Amino acid sequence: MPIQLKFDVLIIGTGSAGLVSALQLSEDLSVALISKDKILEGSSYYAQGGISAVLTNDDNFDKHIEDTLASGAGLGDREAVRFMVENAPDAIASLEESGVRFTKQEKKYHLTTEGGHSERRVVHVADKTGQHIQLNLLESVQNRKNISIFENCIAVDLLLNDNGCAGAYILNKTNNGVERFISHKTVIATGGASKAYLYTSNPDTSTGDGIAMAYRSGCDIVNMEFTQFHPTCLFHPHAKSFLISESVRGEGGILILQNGEEFMHKYDNRKELAPRDIVARAIDNEMKTRGIDCVYLDISFKGKKWLSERFPTILEKCSSFGIDISQEPIPVVPAAHYTCGGIQTDRDARTNISNLYAVGEVAHTGVHGANRMASNSLLECIVFAKSCAKHINGQQLPKEFPVFSSWDASRVSPSKEKVVVLHLWDEIRRIMWNFVGIVRSNKRLKYAKHRLHQINLEVDSYYRTYLVTSDLIELRNLVKTAQIIVNSAISRTESRGLHFNEDFKQQSSKIINTTIKKT
Ligand code: FAD
Ligand code: SIN
Repeated sequence: MPIQLKFDVLIIGTGSAGLVSALQLSEDLSVALISKDKILEGSSYYAQGGISAVLTNDDNFDKHIEDTLASGAGLGDREAVRFMVENAPDAIASLEESGVRFTKQEKKYHLTTEGGHSERRVVHVADKTGQHIQLNLLESVQNRKNISIFENCIAVDLLLNDNGCAGAYILNKTNNGVERFISHKTVIATGGASKAYLYTSNPDTSTGDGIAMAYRSGCDIVNMEFTQFHPTCLFHPHAKSFLISESVRGEGGILILQNGEEFMHKYDNRKELAPRDIVARAIDNEMKTRGIDCVYLDISFKGKKWLSERFPTILEKCSSFGIDISQEPIPVVPAAHYTCGGIQTDRDARTNISNLYAVGEVAHTGVHGANRMASNSLLECIVFAKSCAKHINGQQLPKEFPVFSSWDASRVSPSKEKVVVLHLWDEIRRIMWNFVGIVRSNKRLKYAKHRLHQINLEVDSYYRTYLVTSDLIELRNLVKTAQIIVNSAISRTESRGLHFNEDFKQQSSKIINTTIKKT
């Protein structure tokens, strides 16, 4: 790899947000797409449920807007939500242009539903929606001569000068060299931070890298206390992060205890289709008060033929663990799933740093409020990626690129203490699960803050002593993101949406966003 690579636009992350941003940019611009893993690895690929959009005459934009705001427990930004919802049909059309074929019945979209939706408005490709979207977007990207793809390359930190952001230092995991990627515009599309929790539905890529990098560079980070716990992840000792889609409940799936007793009616009259925060808290309460390891989701009454067409991935995965979902209920537990907060952005995905944009789960656009409604995330990725690219396309870019000094590794040495990285990584995730989980308290948050502060000092010292590696970069980002989550949670003195604190059980009449800035 040359010493200093120069591109008009650097996009960090190749989920749906990164790929759509790249595709929507003018073909006159040179674009670098960076992925820290294989290009398709990221949450987008695993999306099951689908994408929400108003596509029938029975539905309308106002209903989608009101459902989104109600799920967000009053914290969503109405105008941002309107922007997303009104652009949803166009987002679906552009995915179809890329080759995505959504499931249809008698030539009409098969629309499903999930928690919080008052109408069936979720388009999907069986239960493999993300996989189909990503494969089609990737094919389109690979056909574009102006886009260069760099796999197994992890961004370490952003490059800043008097004009704002001018690229990033990137570690090439194949040769362990850190290179300068210089760019006129930089787009962070690194996804969420759910790996900060011991149990998560997310792939290993969700370590909050973009949030931590942006924080270190001076971006405002907003509403990070709202970690969404998905109510139903497969409970099995050998199943790592496997989701049982909310659309299983959308199609009639019922939550039960081991003895077959239903319980959701005790918590909300929408039962299984209440917004996610309510269902996850209900399951958590049943598990804690009864001392049980899991609850069960029953969809067996639909029969094997129907299940194999509608939920082939779930049927197959459960079967690989010896669970026949056409015969028996699925053991499920909640797990960290989605980061509602993130880097503050405007309608064009701009951050408070010039020439720096953020798109997708890493961003806080204001659409999700205190709890994201199901299937609004892929939609947000696509709508805001398009507006980001449109904004960049409208700019006159300079001809010259700035120069930055090369990465200085003269004062560090290879580590013989890798066990420290593994230990701290595990400790952070346990602290977050046990003390900053579905139900919080002042005391537990205070303990988490104290211990994370110490871990941050330890990681900082390690980072200054040893050669940088991918694991170390992620650990450094994970602890910083965990600290931001805890500080946000402590500063919210109410319970709202996904943030439930036993010491402040009521929702305040004041609508406040929590903002964390570098001090
Ligand atoms: P991701 O798809 O997570 O991509 C992040 C990218 O950034 C990856 O390429 C990663 O390698 C890269 N990256 C990260 N850090 C760095 C770094 N330091 N340097 C370089 N590259 C980096 N939402 C819906 O709307 N509908 C659904 O049906 C749905 N189902 C879901 C099912 C599962 C199992 C999961 C986990 C999530 C689901 N979601 C769903 C949420 C949704 O999929 C995600 O919010 C969305 O895909 C995020 O897209 P993204 O592009 O922002 O990030
Ligand atoms: C799911 O299929 O349950 C995930 C949907 C989402 O996260 O929006």
